[in-house]
Amino acid sequence: MRVCVIGTGYVGLVTGACLANIGHDVICIDNNEEKVKIMKSGQSPIFEPGLSDIMQSAIQSGKIEFSSDIAAGVAHGEILFIAVGTPPLPTGESDTRYVEAVARSIGANLSGGYKVIVNKSTVPIGSGDWVRMIVLDGIAERQKQLVTAGSAPAARLPESPEFDVVSNPEFLREGSAVFDTFNPDRIVLGGNSKKAIAMMQELYAPIVERNFAENKSLPNVPVLATDLSSAEMIKYAANAFLATKISFINEVANICDRVGADVTQVAKGIGLDSRIGSKFLNAGIGWGGSCFPKDVSALVHTADDYGYEAHLLKAAISVNERQRLIALEKLQQALKILKGKTIGLLGLTFKPDTDDLRDAPALILIEQLNRLGAKVKAYDPIISQTGMRHGLSGVLVETDAERLADGCDALVLVTEWEQFTKLDYAKMAKFMSHPVIIDGRNFLNPEVMQKAGFQYIGVGR
Ligand code: NAI
Repeated sequence: MRVCVIGTGYVGLVTGACLANIGHDVICIDNNEEKVKIMKSGQSPIFEPGLSDIMQSAIQSGKIEFSSDIAAGVAHGEILFIAVGTPPLPTGESDTRYVEAVARSIGANLSGGYKVIVNKSTVPIGSGDWVRMIVLDGIAERQKQLVTAGSAPAARLPESPEFDVVSNPEFLREGSAVFDTFNPDRIVLGGNSKKAIAMMQELYAPIVERNFAENKSLPNVPVLATDLSSAEMIKYAANAFLATKISFINEVANICDRVGADVTQVAKGIGLDSRIGSKFLNAGIGWGGSCFPKDVSALVHTADDYGYEAHLLKAAISVNERQRLIALEKLQQALKILKGKTIGLLGLTFKPDTDDLRDAPALILIEQLNRLGAKVKAYDPIISQTGMRHGLSGVLVETDAERLADGCDALVLVTEWEQFTKLDYAKMAKFMSHPVIIDGRNFLNPEVMQKAGFQYIGVGR
């Protein structure tokens, strides 16, 4: 099928490259010319395991193109994905201006046969109908321009092109986005047009039938067809649930810290209950990243708009805000005065295997440590290597973990990068004036760390 993906960030680029690899003809559009240039050369502008490889194979087979020309993209695609960002506004609402701009341009350029416009961006509930309205506005504006330009008498204007809007929320995880796209837990398709849903089912058929999955023996991927609003709500409810689960275990960890229990054992004990499940029960320094904070806040805001106060979600947010300062509290307990001390952060990104720093807990820690007069250094396997420092200030980024340890009063493990289990901690301890480590992700073995000469402090253990 002919596909156009507009917005080539973590979601759009992975979606485009994966769809090209299952045989579709894809054009990826971004208004950032610099990004388009990088993608055309076969490189990924973001760090995502396996992404460059599938981009290159799609380029070689002629299945993918990159461009900043939205008109060409809209003309090419029978399925048009909107995958631009929906960042948070200071009020907590979702900023939908990029979605609006794209929907308007789609309308202004829509021609040819029937098209399906797909909301892949996480958008407030009700956006499906709103996007339809904006596209219609875009079409009307173009027709007005045509009349004004005298290029066609009003009576001979092309008929309003036919299209439907589908909500197809994305559940991929940064760091395993390519795997997740080929092996989704489910595909959600929201809309009231049978024709549009049928086209989406055809698009995803190779993935649903697991022709591209690691484990082909598994049953087909479940496809859930819903109305527009329910599909939009599923995305918010899923993220709100996961964020609340983490806030729950963080609250339990804080109680464990006070009563002398070990949250890692507690999590194991409750996670074995199939009604609870073991995932998202790792206590630590709180959730961050480009999705959870903004999506939970947006859902609270939507509820508020309809006169409902989302008490539980507000509590999940407030537990998280406090949890993001837990490493600071533990540093104060261990070192007392932080003014003039040097603190080394192991990891900066909000999770391992990504270069994404959006709303990363490290950023708040850096800000607070700076406020208290501490000097902050950091080592992150990706940020140190790529030099992508967007959003970072008040921190000296070191090139390796041993340089980081040199002269530090304490270390804080912020991101659970796999390579942090293999560092030479005994050597690092020797470079430090106080070999203290706050394990913000309960990721390291306390006994191993103590043997290496560290005072080990976890979260709730
Ligand atoms: P991103 O910020 O990485 O990428 C957005 C891209 O859209 C950028 O490359 C930007 O240049 C481009 N863009 C903006 N305006 C444009 C326009 N008018 N025309 C063409 N391109 C334009 O965003 P990301 O992280 O990929 O997220 C996209 C959406 O997917 C958001 O709504 C997000 O909430 C949702 N989502 C994100 C996930 C993630 O893990 N990052 C997971 C699931 C959903």
